[in-house]
Amino acid sequence: MIIRRATYDEAKSLRAFDEFLGDRRVDNWRGELFVCADGAEVVGYVAYSSNLFYNRPFVALLCVRESHRRRGIGRRLVRRVLDAYEGLDVWVSTEAWSTPAVALFEGMGFRRMGAIAGLNRDDTEEVFFVFRGTAGDGTAVAEGEATPG
Ligand SMILES: CC(C)(COP(=O)(O)OP(=O)(O)OC[C@H]1O[C@@H](n2cnc3c(N)ncnc32)[C@H](O)[C@@H]1OP(=O)(O)O)[C@@H](O)C(=O)NCCC(=O)NCCS
Repeated sequence: MIIRRATYDEAKSLRAFDEFLGDRRVDNWRGELFVCADGAEVVGYVAYSSNLFYNRPFVALLCVRESHRRRGIGRRLVRRVLDAYEGLDVWVSTEAWSTPAVALFEGMGFRRMGAIAGLNRDDTEEVFFVFRGTAGDGTAVAEGEATPG
């Protein structure tokens, strides 16, 4: 399995298992989409943004094909984004009830920073996390060193 940038056709094909609104081709046109390919099959993606969230790196959408979950693909996709922004803080959000996503982010060292009510139509809170890219003194934090909060 490899993580890489998507082709146009792959970005289009993500709708076969995508759980989110919108068209992933738009993320791909912006150059902000990585996919996980298992041979010829695309089994997951992460869409991100450099500046749409208060001009900060942000993991916007993460989705893994149901048949391929719990194999470390989600974690590898997020890691790819952290690597792309090495040394910088990277933000992410998810619905509070999404146990898999919350466990994934906290397990990778993202720190819970707060929540916004009213953002989602079903009235669940959207929880925001940050992965600190430096130790605060300009030193990059090695994988596994960050403290889950
Ligand atoms: C959230 C999602 C992307 C996780 O993808 P995944 O490839 O299954 O995740 P991984 O296998 O990399 O799991 C990494 C860690 O996350 C946690 N995790 C993942 N799924 C979990 C679950 N169902 N229950 C509890 N913890 C879970 C675990 O800590 C796991 O580590 P472990 O397997 O070593 O215990 C996937 O469930 C998904 O696509 N969900 C629907 C869309 C969504 O909610 N996206 C996130 C919001 S943007």
